[in-house]
Amino acid sequence: MRSQTLWEARKYEEAFGKAISLQERPGFHLSPRTGWMNDPNGFSWHDGKYHMFYQYHPYDSHWGPMHWGHAVSTDLLHWEYLPAALAPDEIYDRDGCFSGSAITLPDGRQLLMYTGVVKERQANGGYNEVQAQCLAVGDGVDYVKYDKNPVLDEKDIPEGGSRFDFRDPKMWREEDGTYRCIIGNRPADGSGQILLFESPDGYAWHYKKVLAANHNRFGKMWECPDFFPLDGKWVLLTSPQDMLPSGFEYHNGNGTLCLIGAYDREAEEFTEETDQSIDYGIDFYAPQTVLTPDGRRVMIGWMQNWDTCNHRRTHDEAWFGQMSLPRELSIKNGRLYQTPVRELEEMRRDRVSYQGVTVSGTIRLEGVRGRRVDMEVTVRPEEGCDLYRKFAIRLAQNDLYHTSLSFRPGESVLKVDRKFSGSRRAIIHQRRSKVNHRGGELKLRIILDRFSVEAFVNDGEQVLSAVLYTDQEADGISFLADGTVNIDVVKYDLV
Ligand code: FRU
Repeated sequence: MRSQTLWEARKYEEAFGKAISLQERPGFHLSPRTGWMNDPNGFSWHDGKYHMFYQYHPYDSHWGPMHWGHAVSTDLLHWEYLPAALAPDEIYDRDGCFSGSAITLPDGRQLLMYTGVVKERQANGGYNEVQAQCLAVGDGVDYVKYDKNPVLDEKDIPEGGSRFDFRDPKMWREEDGTYRCIIGNRPADGSGQILLFESPDGYAWHYKKVLAANHNRFGKMWECPDFFPLDGKWVLLTSPQDMLPSGFEYHNGNGTLCLIGAYDREAEEFTEETDQSIDYGIDFYAPQTVLTPDGRRVMIGWMQNWDTCNHRRTHDEAWFGQMSLPRELSIKNGRLYQTPVRELEEMRRDRVSYQGVTVSGTIRLEGVRGRRVDMEVTVRPEEGCDLYRKFAIRLAQNDLYHTSLSFRPGESVLKVDRKFSGSRRAIIHQRRSKVNHRGGELKLRIILDRFSVEAFVNDGEQVLSAVLYTDQEADGISFLADGTVNIDVVKYDLV
C-alpha cells in the first residue's frame, strides 16, 4: 500500500474498532467500525457480496477529513468490516474523499468514483471547498487511485454551475456497455441540479446535459443523487439541503426527495411526474440503491439528521452514525413503496400473536416487549363503537422512557415522538405525517433495533425513521386508545 494516511487509518480502526463490544452497536444496522459515519457510498454487488462504503472519520465521533469506510455482507443485515478503502492522501483530495459510487468493470475489478475536495483560500480570507470527481480501482479490498485524477472538474460543469458544489457521483453501466453518471451541482439560481455525464470505458468522462433542475422548488443544493428504472417508471432520488416545510410532505432542514417520472433512454430526457419525500421520520438522508442479483432494487440511507449530529448518547461514544434498514423499493399507484428487505425474516424468532384485542385505555400484551423487534400491528375501530380519537404504541418503555407512534384518524396524522427517549437536548423530537387509512384502519410494521425505530405504514406506503437514545433496559411495549379500538399484533424478536 502506498499511502501512509490510509495505512494509519487502517491501523487505527483495527485497534479501536475491536474495543467496541457487539452490545454497544446496533444489532443489524451498519455502524462505523470506529468514529464517525455519514452517507452510504459505493453500495454495490461485487464478487458475490454486497459492498457498502461510507463517509468515515475514524479518529473521532464527529465529522472530519473524510475517508471511505468499507464493509461487506451476503444478506444486507450482517456486515463484516474490511479495511478503510480511501483516505484523503492526494493533492486533489487532500481535504476529503466525499460521497460516490461503485461498479464492477468487465475485467472483474471494482471501480470507485468519489468527490475529491480541496480547500481554496478566498479573497475574503475564508475557505471554500473545490470539488472534483476522482476514480480508484481495486480488487474489493485495496484500491489504487487513478493517475489521471480528477476525471471531472470545473471545466466539465455547464455555465453558471458552481465548482464548490459539484459532488456525489452515482455511476451505472448501460446495456450497450457504456457508462453514465449523475452528479449534484449548484447552478446560477443558487438551488440544485443533477448533471448527466457519459463515458465509453468508465475512465474518460464527458458532460452530457442537465438531467433535472430544482429551480428552487425543493430546498437548495441537491446532494447524493441516484437514478434507476423501477416498475415501468424511472426514479430520481436526491437529498436537498435547506428545505422549507410544505404541508406534511417536506420538513425544514436537509430532506429527501423522490421524483418519479418517464425517461426517454434515446434522448436521455427525464420527465418528472410526481414528487414525494422518501422518509417521513426524523433521521434519514442521502440514500443509495443497489440492484440485487435477483432483481430487487434495495435502498439504504444514513439514519441521521444533520441538525442533530452534535447530540450524543454518551460523552465518550466510540461511534456515531448508523445506516437505515435495507429497504426493497417498488412503485404502486404512482408512489414509492418501501418494505424491509426480505432477508430480515430469517432473523425472526419467537412469534407472539394476538388477534382482535379490544383496547380502551392502556394495555400491555404478555410476551410483547424487546428492543430488537419486528412487530406488525393493525388497528381498526371496535365494531359498534364510534371512531376512536387516538391510538398509540409506546416503545422502548419503562418508568422513565418511552417513544410513541400515535395515530389520530380524525386528522389522518401519524406522529413519531421521541421526546422521552432519553434525549437531554432541545433537538427535533417529533415528526407528523399524513397517512391513508380506511375509516380508521391502519397497518404498521415496526422495526426496533437497539438505537432506532423504523415504522412502515400500510405495507410500505410511507416510512418514519428515528434514532433513539434510550437505555436498553427500557424494553416495554404498550398500546393506548382514546376511544375503543380493535388490534391485531404479531411480534417477533430479531436475533
Ligand atoms: C451529504 C454530504 C455529501 C458529501 C458528504 C460529505 O450528507 O454533504 O454531499 O459528499 O456528505 O461527507
